[in-house]
Amino acid sequence: MRSVDDLIAEGVSGRRVLVRTDLNVPLDHTTASPVITDDGRIRASLPTLQALRDAGARVVVAAHLGRPKGAPDPQFSLAPVAARLGELLGTTVPLAADVAGDDARAKVAALADGDVVLLENVRFEAAETSKDDAERGELADRLAGLADAYVDDAFGAVHRKHASVYDVARRLPRHAGRLVAAELDVLRRLTSDPERPYVVVLGGSKVSDKLAVIEALLPKVDKLLVGGGMCFTFLKAQGHEVGRSLLEADQVDTCRRLLDEAGDRIVLPVDVVCAPEFSADAPTTTVDVEAIPADQLGLDVGPRTVELFAREIAAARTVFWNGPMGVFELAPFAEGTRGVADAVSHVEGLSVVGGGDSAAAVRQLGLDEAAYGHISTGGGASLEYLEGRELPGLAVLTD
Ligand code: 3PG
Repeated sequence: MRSVDDLIAEGVSGRRVLVRTDLNVPLDHTTASPVITDDGRIRASLPTLQALRDAGARVVVAAHLGRPKGAPDPQFSLAPVAARLGELLGTTVPLAADVAGDDARAKVAALADGDVVLLENVRFEAAETSKDDAERGELADRLAGLADAYVDDAFGAVHRKHASVYDVARRLPRHAGRLVAAELDVLRRLTSDPERPYVVVLGGSKVSDKLAVIEALLPKVDKLLVGGGMCFTFLKAQGHEVGRSLLEADQVDTCRRLLDEAGDRIVLPVDVVCAPEFSADAPTTTVDVEAIPADQLGLDVGPRTVELFAREIAAARTVFWNGPMGVFELAPFAEGTRGVADAVSHVEGLSVVGGGDSAAAVRQLGLDEAAYGHISTGGGASLEYLEGRELPGLAVLTD
């Protein structure tokens, strides 16, 4: 896999370099103009972009935001991202009005050495995510026409076989960006002989989303701690009533089989914080998992669970954590996630926060990002890597 530093060493001054980044940041739309609530992914893109600028490249940035329906939609415009990226780079980053059309071509042609332009949300073109190779290919041709070389730094999107991630890479000299290289370095350390004990903490709402990674990880880990909404399907499989908590009834048998096969390694919550409704003002009660009231729903793990999980985490030399332990966005249900995040930050060894909501939780709860070995920018991408699946955006770089 050739790197952006190999490209820079070749000399990029005056050359147009298309950099696919993952700038898919959360936006608050309740204000007059949308506000970025976590700019972690924009900051993570800076090392590659800055290195290219310093080397005199003309940098063309492609990115997606949310899941628009394959047509321009102002709600999903990258305008707020262009403004923030410009602030962080200390320059003006113009936003092209289209992805790879007349305005993109004009703005790229106007770049001087070291300048940056951001293309509009690549998912405004239906071809970006099309299953049809020819459709994606047509967009990839237009994107490739904007540049002389391609750098993939969108770690969070490498599991997508999309035009700007996969097809365009086959049309230009291709390179991995610094973020992709750093993320891969950590994932390789997790998969090749991690220092033991190796503990994985999984949370998040849907157990069905995580079953494949659970199956893949169970033979490799010393302990798998399960919290978040997904724990209730496991608790049900263990024989507990879960009231109105999130339950995927069709997954109970699978969870029961996993508990039968590897119950000694799977650690489930022993208490939960319940409320009659999903609201920050609802009265809460903390109960043992044997006593979840029929009319309540569990919205966080309880303090005894945090203690139990923290003990397992403290004994570990390698920890991978993905998914919040509860509805951390609502203050009464944030303590489980805070407790786990705090324990992970004190691990002596390698601690990895696996992207998505868990990375956002670290930042939103005001925890010290520097205390973690690595905070991934890709939730889905890291999980698929750990599952052992081939990721199209990486495969094409090594092709
Ligand atoms: C993410 O947020 O995980 C990445 O940006 C990929 O987004 P997607 O799941 O919409 O493809």
